[in-house]
Amino acid sequence: MHDIQKLLEDKRAKARLGGGEKRIASQHAKGKLTARERLELLLDEGSFEEWDMFVEHRCSDFGMADNKVPGDGVVTGYGMINGRLVFVFSQDFTVFGGALSEAHAEKICKIMDQAMKVGAPVIGLNDSGGARIQEGVASLGGYAEVFQRNVMASGVIPQISLIMGPCAGGAVYSPAMTDFIFMVKDSSYMFVTGPEVVKTVTHEEVSAEELGGASAHTTKSGVADLAFENDVEAILMIRRFYNYLPLNNREKPPVRKGGDPADRRDDSLDTLVPDHPNKPYDIKELILKVVDDGDFFEIQPEHAKNIVVGMARMDGQTVGIVANNPQVLAGCLDIKSSIKAARFVRFCDAFNIPVITFVDVPGFMPGTAQEYGGIIKHGAKLLYAYAECTVPKVTVITRKAYGGAYDVMSSKHLRGDVNFAWPNAEIAVMGAKGAVEIIFREDKGDPAKLAAKEAEYKARFANPFVAGARGFIDDVIQPHETRKRICRSLAMLRDKKIENPWRKHGNIPL
Ligand code: COA
Repeated sequence: MHDIQKLLEDKRAKARLGGGEKRIASQHAKGKLTARERLELLLDEGSFEEWDMFVEHRCSDFGMADNKVPGDGVVTGYGMINGRLVFVFSQDFTVFGGALSEAHAEKICKIMDQAMKVGAPVIGLNDSGGARIQEGVASLGGYAEVFQRNVMASGVIPQISLIMGPCAGGAVYSPAMTDFIFMVKDSSYMFVTGPEVVKTVTHEEVSAEELGGASAHTTKSGVADLAFENDVEAILMIRRFYNYLPLNNREKPPVRKGGDPADRRDDSLDTLVPDHPNKPYDIKELILKVVDDGDFFEIQPEHAKNIVVGMARMDGQTVGIVANNPQVLAGCLDIKSSIKAARFVRFCDAFNIPVITFVDVPGFMPGTAQEYGGIIKHGAKLLYAYAECTVPKVTVITRKAYGGAYDVMSSKHLRGDVNFAWPNAEIAVMGAKGAVEIIFREDKGDPAKLAAKEAEYKARFANPFVAGARGFIDDVIQPHETRKRICRSLAMLRDKKIENPWRKHGNIPL
């Protein structure tokens, strides 16, 4: 081997060692993989093309001039996931705690720029102590360069963040602007200010895990979409999730046909909805029985459970599912569920993913907490998202579609393409009891009369045929044929094209 080749191999070996054996062992002792081990798992075997392995920081303060590690704490490049291109960066906690220097940020920006040029997603594996303290504002500038690119890439290429260690301070705002955030339980956390600062400012005593661990963000805040047990599970799930997505906003998602016939009927759906209108049932059972092979990738399963969202396939085509969940808060729309579903619908719309909506909604959640919290504006987000959405939209009303929530949930009026109802659907301004108590207030003391009026109201309005008579519902379908009818609708809509009027951008109620 020539000397120069040996030099190259030596340099590569040094870069691969990151912060050294001791720090690698300490990373493993925490149950975490190293930056490179993570990429090996994430990408198809042998597909990784690394860039900028020899980049070093340019800081000379605080003894840093003699403290350089090739790669500077982040491994970047591109590779394949199940044969499809992806750009990646993986922060190396063994090198200066994965802290972001100017050079480290430049490496991330470089692959983001390239991803935009060729139209491929970026997956970031975050494990970092934040801004490189020795570099000061150079590091902060680096973050802002990444943020700007996150925003420019939003809606153009999918961006996914996997939080696999610390992510604090300004560092949280890059993942926050990506499409999905996945976290690893017990080893990752995200917060704007850590427990020490919280204690000083608000006198609250809280651990890092309680403040910003995977559980806090997947249940309470809704900042993160999913939490996984460990690095390996998280990475394997990202690989699975990736298969649903197109590479960019000019492409359709990949079609992956399994063996599930598009016209498969499921007779058990005929008895899914209980006779009693207030009795809950499991909306996920419906989703699993309708989509291809019972395969549903749920997003935010532990947050705002009154609405269910996630990815699935229908006859091989990726679809986004949105469904009210009658088992939680009777499926009412509240602030959190509106935000959750609105963001999901907008993701689907940006990336050419048809939206299937299953409706069983008694209305918006009443109460001061909701009103003071701004349900008017937050509920409007979902309305806005459905109304501006131009991808194929297929809606199935399984039971209740009451009041403003009927309008919001992908109704015909918001350019729903195909709107079905099951025979027992109730499409009305409100439930029969509430309606009668208002319009026949003077008969308050006469329960028999009220009961008669309630029955009359039910017979007149608590069915899908009044909406059907106006064409607000395209057809009333048998529950057992739901899959077939949705698949046919999607096939019909495959080449749908509508455009919203030109504008700089809309002004979604924030
Ligand atoms: N800048 C420079 N170096 C950093 C760093 C940063 N922001 N964060 C961590 N490091 C270095 C540490 O000095 C340490 O170096 P060493 O291995 O040479 O001793 C190494 O990374 C590992 O950090 P350590 O503190 O030992 O790891 P930990 O798991 O105990 O704690 C953190 C991790 C992130 C909680 C802790 O390092 C921390 O609080 N970092 C500062 C966070 C911060 O305030 N960032 C700036 C705001 S964005």
